[in-house]
Amino acid sequence: MKASVTAHKDFTIAQIDDRIYSAFLEHLGRAIYTGIYEPDHPTADANGMRGDVAELVRDLNIPFVRYPGGNFVSAYNWEDGIGPKDQRPVRLDLAWHTSDANQVGVHEFQDWCDTVGTQMMLAINLGSRGLDDARNFVEYVNGPTGSHWGDLRAKNGREEPFNCRLWCLGNEMDGPWQVGHKTADEYGRLANEVAKTLRAFDKGLELIVCGSSNADMKTYPEWERIVLEHTYESVDYISLHMYFANRAKNTDNYLALNEKLDRYISTIESTIKMVKANKRSKRDVYISFDEWNVWYHSNEQDKAILQGNAGWPHAPRLLEDIYNFEDVLQVGCILNTFIRKSNVVKIACIAQLVNVIAPIMTDPMGKAWRQTIYYPYYFASIFGRGMALNLAVSSPGYAAEVAENVPYLDVSGVHDAEAGILTFFAVNRHSTEALDMVVSLQGFAGAAQVIDHQVMTHADVGAVNTSVNPMAVAPQKASGASIDGDTLSAKLPPLSYQMLRVKLS
Ligand code: AHR
Repeated sequence: MKASVTAHKDFTIAQIDDRIYSAFLEHLGRAIYTGIYEPDHPTADANGMRGDVAELVRDLNIPFVRYPGGNFVSAYNWEDGIGPKDQRPVRLDLAWHTSDANQVGVHEFQDWCDTVGTQMMLAINLGSRGLDDARNFVEYVNGPTGSHWGDLRAKNGREEPFNCRLWCLGNEMDGPWQVGHKTADEYGRLANEVAKTLRAFDKGLELIVCGSSNADMKTYPEWERIVLEHTYESVDYISLHMYFANRAKNTDNYLALNEKLDRYISTIESTIKMVKANKRSKRDVYISFDEWNVWYHSNEQDKAILQGNAGWPHAPRLLEDIYNFEDVLQVGCILNTFIRKSNVVKIACIAQLVNVIAPIMTDPMGKAWRQTIYYPYYFASIFGRGMALNLAVSSPGYAAEVAENVPYLDVSGVHDAEAGILTFFAVNRHSTEALDMVVSLQGFAGAAQVIDHQVMTHADVGAVNTSVNPMAVAPQKASGASIDGDTLSAKLPPLSYQMLRVKLS
């Protein structure tokens, strides 16, 4: 089987916004407690943050981490997480039916961000709370000393403002499961007033309004239209979320799901354009895809806690999906979609980062290790920065539930002009046949050579990494790719993920 690709230097999509490689951490299960924070752990630093986890996170070079929720934020009082730790209240978390002793709050989270080399992107509670608490929170985080909230922050150990630039105006407000769920009109009006108020404090803040929780919501995409009609002039991004699942155990259908993701993004791109035209507006609104990942492996085991049959446990095992090899391919395809949609997707957050539907897992008091999906996320974040190329792809395809003709080859290309490097991320979706990928390189001056070729493939789509066998699914360096004149050729094994890097001279 053969697929041909044309990459031309001047045929581009957009400069990729590095923030599409961001992540998300929620006060949920063991994401925070025994995830990033475990004061008794042998690797813990002076702040109680696990050093082994910090190291795995640092390697990913994550631009932003969204915090503290998620559904959790819709009944969260940010004041519970400030001041002396021994005086912080234990609260019941209504989203996940657990309890939280608030040992990590905005100060501890910022310190952790500094440790791992990332920045925080904060979510505001617009579920159980409203405008006044939003304004107080932003003033506490970013306000000058000499004011009530700035002075309180200084008293709590932080003289300088945190200067957080990215703010989410609530979370999944379209979802009936959300504490304080609203109609699109109710939410749109509130979000607009909150946005105006935050801009009165600092007009340079970047604000994200809630779009749909997924493309199957009954209110999608009317929700986006109505919310944007209210907020278009006062926000910068509309947020979308999507989780992927293979419940029917059908790999072909599963690996086609990013076709649906592509349509979801394109639909909201059009909705944004329509509202912009309606308003005769000159400004642009972009998409913040601030929750995405595979999520289904743990659904069954989570039922008891989520139905409230386990009391109010502290940091239980929740949403601990153990990812397999097949999920590597899915995550590779999702990231390819974000690269191909980089003209409109400016922020994206893998959900989540540690233990909870996450690329990094930990054992309490034990090891931290990389799940299978760590690798495609790592490769994209480290090497997928630059100009997204508008590749012309011709590949045989197959019919799946979500689309008639899904190409076996899913590929994206990135040109880092400064380094003179072209990077291709390619997935062969075919379960039995290898794919001969032939890439015609056009407009790139000079001879080229393959400088890196990483492959992930496995005989068992269900193979997983564990604390005792953390390298069961890992990338291998390959040597088969070659360059002849302006043509790059590589054989992609059945069901494989690849990263190919070409140095231009
Ligand atoms: O990431 C897990 C949950 O998924 C988040 O709390 C919520 O926003 C979404 O439904």
